[in-house]
Amino acid sequence: MAEKLKVLKGTKDILPQDIDMWHFLEEKANEVFSKYGFKEIRTPIIEVTELFSRGVGDTTDIVNKEMYTFEKSDRSITLRPENTAGVVRSYIENNMSRLSSPVKLWYHGPMFRYERPQAGRQRQFHQVGVEMFGIKDPTADAEVILTAVNYLKALGLNDLDVEINSLGCPKCRNEFKDRLKEVLKPYLNELCEDCQNRYEKNPLRLLDCKVESCKEIFEKPEVQAVIKSDFICEECASHYTELKLYLEKMGVKYTENKLLVRGLDYYNRTVFEIKSNNLGSQNAVAGGGRYDNLVEQLGGEPTPAIGFAMGMERLISLLPQKTSKKLDAYVVSNFQTDAFVLTEELRSQGLEVEFDLTNKKFTKQLEKASKVAKYAIILGEDEILKHQVSIKNLEEGKQITVDRENCVKMLEL
Ligand code: HAM
Repeated sequence: MAEKLKVLKGTKDILPQDIDMWHFLEEKANEVFSKYGFKEIRTPIIEVTELFSRGVGDTTDIVNKEMYTFEKSDRSITLRPENTAGVVRSYIENNMSRLSSPVKLWYHGPMFRYERPQAGRQRQFHQVGVEMFGIKDPTADAEVILTAVNYLKALGLNDLDVEINSLGCPKCRNEFKDRLKEVLKPYLNELCEDCQNRYEKNPLRLLDCKVESCKEIFEKPEVQAVIKSDFICEECASHYTELKLYLEKMGVKYTENKLLVRGLDYYNRTVFEIKSNNLGSQNAVAGGGRYDNLVEQLGGEPTPAIGFAMGMERLISLLPQKTSKKLDAYVVSNFQTDAFVLTEELRSQGLEVEFDLTNKKFTKQLEKASKVAKYAIILGEDEILKHQVSIKNLEEGKQITVDRENCVKMLEL
């Protein structure tokens, strides 16, 4: 026998028995996001590598360590590690700025990051998310967070923690970065290798480090004093205050987390994550924020924007399993041609129906019917002669015989 091949590490098949959950997430996304005026967009899974090095940022782990990149006809191409950069590219390329503002887009699909696989972390995973372009007011931040919260509610996920923070604008953030570097300078040699690299390139990301010895350094009073200081400028501070007021007005409970810095470079002002206590170490269900400079950075007109993405595998692991749906009916008959014709007739009337393609014994067919369908539709000699069918309710066991044209009407679906 030839050697069996296996799925790649960190990737998974989505099997038919699980597909109802995926459809549920996609249908609810369409339903909830449409209510908020978002329209679906589907962008390619492959993009030029430069989109991500310029968009997500070449100091991030995603760009430095995690991208699936290959060459084709002298072009460097990358499997998208996230979808904000791709949606921004499409917004610019398709001149969406001429549309009336705001432009609201949503998406779902596979993303690829070469990370160490563990519970809740895969190399191919799926995100569902939204991006809103054109509004700088904090109403947009509040509406996007509310969209996320209400999508989660529609899925049945009510008690998740919404964490928010403001990263300020490039100007006030640079001052903060300088102060942070200054206070951490004496400890530079004690920081982990990643933090030592980030110290110069992206000091804000230090705050996100999970290494215990680094966390201890960040707990030192002089470092805490810098972290806790209100470094953001007046304009950024009033944007943040207004956002909090809107969230309170809309009944969204949140906590402020000054250590929330996010792993992508494009953010300014508002950042947020939605977390669950039931997910172990990979506890973020959603992540998002404002990225007012990205459209311009990728060649478009300056355009404020904000969005979020959620990990679909993580959402599914929080939801109760759905049992797979049964067929509406299974036609049971030893008259195969008649069974075939009746099955097609019922399908044409919108029912999900199957019949036995191999003409097994009647009892075997009935057994199969009770496993896979809500009703057995029995077509014996008598029924065929009288142009009737017998309908057996497979849950209750009741059976009735009706004229064939009344069959669909008699099924209580
Ligand atoms: P992100 O925080 O990198 O943000 O990813 C968003 C969510 O995707 C995470 O909270 C998590 O649920 C899920 N996720 C990320 N990596 C993995 C993985 N390896 N395995 C399973 N799930 C994962 C972004 O991607 C931004 N584009 C979000 C955004 C949209 N910001 C503004 N607009």
